[in-house]
Amino acid sequence: MRALICRHWGKVDELSLGEAPIPVPGPDEVLIKVAATAVNYADSIMVAGRYQTKPEFPFSPGLETAGTVTACGAGVKGLVPGDKVMAILAYGGLAEYAVAPAAETWRIPAGMSFAEAGAFPIAYISSDVAIRWQGRLEAGETMLVLGAAGGVGLTAVEIGKAIGARVIAAASTAEKLALARDHGADEAINYADEPLTERVMTLTGGKGADVCFDPVGGPLFDAALSSLGWGGRILLIGFVGGVPQIPANRLLVKHRSALGSSLRYFRWNAPDKLARSVDALFGWYGEGKLRPCISHRLPLERAVEGLHLLTGRQALGKIVIELEPA
Ligand SMILES: NC(=O)c1ccc[n+]([C@@H]2O[C@H](COP(=O)([O-])OP(=O)(O)OC[C@H]3O[C@@H](n4cnc5c(N)ncnc54)[C@H](OP(=O)(O)O)[C@@H]3O)[C@@H](O)[C@H]2O)c1
Repeated sequence: MRALICRHWGKVDELSLGEAPIPVPGPDEVLIKVAATAVNYADSIMVAGRYQTKPEFPFSPGLETAGTVTACGAGVKGLVPGDKVMAILAYGGLAEYAVAPAAETWRIPAGMSFAEAGAFPIAYISSDVAIRWQGRLEAGETMLVLGAAGGVGLTAVEIGKAIGARVIAAASTAEKLALARDHGADEAINYADEPLTERVMTLTGGKGADVCFDPVGGPLFDAALSSLGWGGRILLIGFVGGVPQIPANRLLVKHRSALGSSLRYFRWNAPDKLARSVDALFGWYGEGKLRPCISHRLPLERAVEGLHLLTGRQALGKIVIELEPA
């Protein structure tokens, strides 16, 4: 099969398209003929050797996939060859075939295209488990979303609205904020030229946000923390802008919490919660409340370009790699 191959730790430019053996599913795994997948920040970190998962060489990066089941391991129940599915992967998504754990493989909901399904699992599930189980966001509360037009950020906007919260989107350009509004955001703040804390305080009548969804970190973190009200929860999702330090006094003084949220925790330690998040997400998709957003569709040969677009802040929603024409 054709695959994007990593032969040594390094830059994404050192990945090469080549031939690899079709993987063999283990007892509780399925083999998927990939129709669409998406690139993620973690792909570039993994090929640099800086991610928690360090596969043996050679391997293909890629954390999610959508396609057709072609074979099932002996222990697999509830899935059969021919099923159209999406899945979370440890790695291996940027290839013509991928092996996925059956427990993290789901039939694609009615009406969802392969491209949407390839863009769905990592962003939507990561955001939902963070907001639902760590953030405990409730209807009527206010959630501030940073990086609100990015892969996870835009899904957080939609999930916040589906829960019934008021969503304040924050991003760096007018185009990104318009997209977040189109996906339901009630308010928009351009943190490239507006003071984040002051704007959140004005928009909330001085109360502050109840939850902040933060996939960015870096210099924005301090202002985001200050924009939380009494009992506010800041969700640490990612650090594309750098890893911030947290002054403990700023948590205590307003009874705030800073909560890390890792999809891997829910996959390995709380699969029941992950399953309930997936059920909720598929339900909302069926009700038209979630609209997966794809800014770029590229063939496998251009996956490295996709990774550069992502790390260069060019993605609006997700960047999908299509292996079968739509
Ligand atoms: N914890 C989890 O379970 C989990 C799951 C999935 C992803 N993540 C992490 O979440 C982070 C975001 O992932 P994503 O897929 O949403 O990425 P993305 O689509 O690139 O979105 C990130 C957003 O961050 C903003 N940004 C601010 N400073 C940036 C910088 N220096 N470089 C790049 N972007 C910057 C950009 O928006 P503006 O231009 O508007 O600022 C961009 O839209 C990554 O660190 C990823 O690994 C975590």
